[in-house]
Amino acid sequence: MTSLHNTTRVAMAAADLEDADFGEVLAALRSGRLTMGSRTDAFESLVAQYCGARHAVAVNSGTAGLHLLCCAAGIGPNDEVITTSFSFVASTNCFLYLGATPVFVDIEPDTYCINPHLVEQAITSRTKAILAVDVFGTPAEWNELSAIADRHGLALIADACEALGAEYYGKKCGPFGIGGVFAFFPNKQMTTGEGGMIVTNDSAVARTCRQLRNQGRDEESPWLQHAVLGYNYRMTEMSAALGIAQLRRIDVLLEKRRRVSEMYDTLLAEEPRVRTLRQRPGCRTSHFVYIVELLGQVHRDAVIRKLAERGIPSRGYFAPIHQQPYIKARGFKVPPLPVTERVASRTVALPFHNNLSLEDAHVIVQTLRDVLDDSN
Ligand SMILES: Cc1ncc(COP(=O)(O)O)c(C=O)c1O
Repeated sequence: MTSLHNTTRVAMAAADLEDADFGEVLAALRSGRLTMGSRTDAFESLVAQYCGARHAVAVNSGTAGLHLLCCAAGIGPNDEVITTSFSFVASTNCFLYLGATPVFVDIEPDTYCINPHLVEQAITSRTKAILAVDVFGTPAEWNELSAIADRHGLALIADACEALGAEYYGKKCGPFGIGGVFAFFPNKQMTTGEGGMIVTNDSAVARTCRQLRNQGRDEESPWLQHAVLGYNYRMTEMSAALGIAQLRRIDVLLEKRRRVSEMYDTLLAEEPRVRTLRQRPGCRTSHFVYIVELLGQVHRDAVIRKLAERGIPSRGYFAPIHQQPYIKARGFKVPPLPVTERVASRTVALPFHNNLSLEDAHVIVQTLRDVLDDSN
């Protein structure tokens, strides 16, 4: 068995790249058309087809996509958006950019996704939207969230940035509510370097997002005519080319992640000091990271430090959004979030990527066990 002690010999995350990816990117470069070309159009069609959405709009990050969906939902300064604090900051930042107020509600203890019952209780006359996250690739409870949004006339936005390929009772995650967003940072299920994709069944939402990502231009208007205030959120042709190549083998990429996850599950099956991520029954998780929740009295950050001392990188995932310094500084009213705070103080992401070997997984799990032994 390889010793991983003292040096970090296993990557926390890594993109799965091969010759076909390099070839597509090079061809995009050689084509002379570096942005807004046929590769972006093709990538959009392929993603729409993959997740069963009528429209897909490519953007240069998941954050940009979420921001545009918030614009399309008409979110503004006096509005409240109900969301989860157990997420990456972008899922709240996207409506903070528009001056709206986050109303954080707690998560389900099993899936770590937003708790729909608490969502309904948090609705006020100022509520404009619900933004739910398929956290760690586990689908949120979309049927209940959609029913609540419909009942109260609210926009529902799907942050599927961690969930390409996940399925909610047979339906691909992404195009729920007014629309959703995938992200393609290199730690994601597939990558475009940086990038994101808005997916929606609403043609008005798609049109608004297309206009806003391209400096507020209408598609049919002359280049230097700008109908509204927009952004430069365009994806490059090189990113789209990489996206096409990656999406072509998405089933293989997802299967590799499932296998690595299963490897960890097996190695940790008899370990009573950790709890591994549970799937929502009847749904399919798309494995984004490998998370263990530490049980008992251990100090999570000390575990992370001791793992690092033994050459194993890991992360405390997530640091809740409501505890981030810039959010605290704004003084938003935050209700008690006992599940979020408990889970967030105990979850650790272990090294996870498509080509993690069984040998490395053994070493990582054994090191975790040694650290837990030391911590008692
Ligand atoms: C839940 C969630 N939302 C949004 C984002 C933002 O995506 P990006 O980094 O592409 O802007 C991420 C990316 O890590 C994410 O995990």
